[in-house]
Amino acid sequence: MESSLHIEVTTSSAPVAEERVAEILAAPGFGLHFTDHMFVAEWTPAQGWHDARITPYAPLSIDPATAVLHYAQEIFEGMKAYRHEDGSVWTFRPEENAARMVRSARRLALPVLPVEDFVASVDALVRVDERWVPEAGGEKSLYLRPFMFASEVFLGVRPSQHVTYMVIASPAGAYFAKGVKPVSIWLSEHYTRAGRGGMGAAKTGGNYASSLVAQQEAIEEGCDQVVFLDSAEGRYVEELGGMNLYFVQDDGTILTPETSGTILEGITRSSIIELCGKLGHVVEERPVTIDEWREGVASGRIGEVFACGTAAVVTPVGTLKWSGGEVGDGETTGPVTRQVRSALLDIQYGRAEDTFGWMHRVD
Ligand SMILES: Cc1ncc(COP(=O)(O)O)c(C=O)c1O
Repeated sequence: MESSLHIEVTTSSAPVAEERVAEILAAPGFGLHFTDHMFVAEWTPAQGWHDARITPYAPLSIDPATAVLHYAQEIFEGMKAYRHEDGSVWTFRPEENAARMVRSARRLALPVLPVEDFVASVDALVRVDERWVPEAGGEKSLYLRPFMFASEVFLGVRPSQHVTYMVIASPAGAYFAKGVKPVSIWLSEHYTRAGRGGMGAAKTGGNYASSLVAQQEAIEEGCDQVVFLDSAEGRYVEELGGMNLYFVQDDGTILTPETSGTILEGITRSSIIELCGKLGHVVEERPVTIDEWREGVASGRIGEVFACGTAAVVTPVGTLKWSGGEVGDGETTGPVTRQVRSALLDIQYGRAEDTFGWMHRVD
């Protein structure tokens, strides 16, 4: 369906100089630099979504009593635009991000932004800031951050009657600038990320706020990332702070923890399930216990562990560490991890045929 949003475009009269953009795109890092424009739309119960516009990128002026600052009624998405060899620009399954934002909105009592309006908003921003999409040939991209927040000026716990939706964009470097390197994972035994009936499946700031102290603990323990267990029994593997998990078993089957409301339904995760099917692997979605992981790696029953998400695509997990022990050799990237990583990147960067119809042409 076509978007019915009317988007007013005001281009910047002071865009970043071409040489500076080139300098930024040569080494963009992650989340550090932002493009010349941003997308904004407002919602009220009476008017629905309105005042959709692209304006020069600028700070917001926020009243101190703006609801989101107090009650965290906020959701977001994360996705990328990729440049192909022929210069064209594409996004990966944007309607899946849109659909997840609809689910997050329902959980956070925010208004639903129709899928076609979400896609139109992202397309519009990428088109106006096209020169910020890094060149093809590496693993750089333009990271896109759609988000929605309670913008009513009101102190009180109830759904906001004024909501703002925005999209901003930030060039991103290759996650592994010096080649793929396995990460180490710290097992969080004090903190959990989400409980039954909670917000675990929603992409909302609160989940990330609650994960920070566990991530800090991981760093103190010399690890790169943290893994969370279920909050009810502390037995089942859920996900990392910002990635889903996969286990490759010695009989060739690939395991991933099932999503049952407490795990973010990663778009990379679900794409890998389909991709693995095509590559001839059997994928099982079911509860995976932490003992199965520990004992599996120790005995060789689990030969590879990898994490996945938009930012890093597929990341090998080298070591799992917990209070009193660790497993994994810390160094090897297994063949299945490598195969899945390249298969996905080849589709995203247009180097392989997109037999799934996942890519969406923007420009
Ligand atoms: C908590 C969490 N889990 C999983 C993912 C992976 O999701 P996706 O593949 O859609 O990027 C993310 C990344 O956005 C995340 O923040």
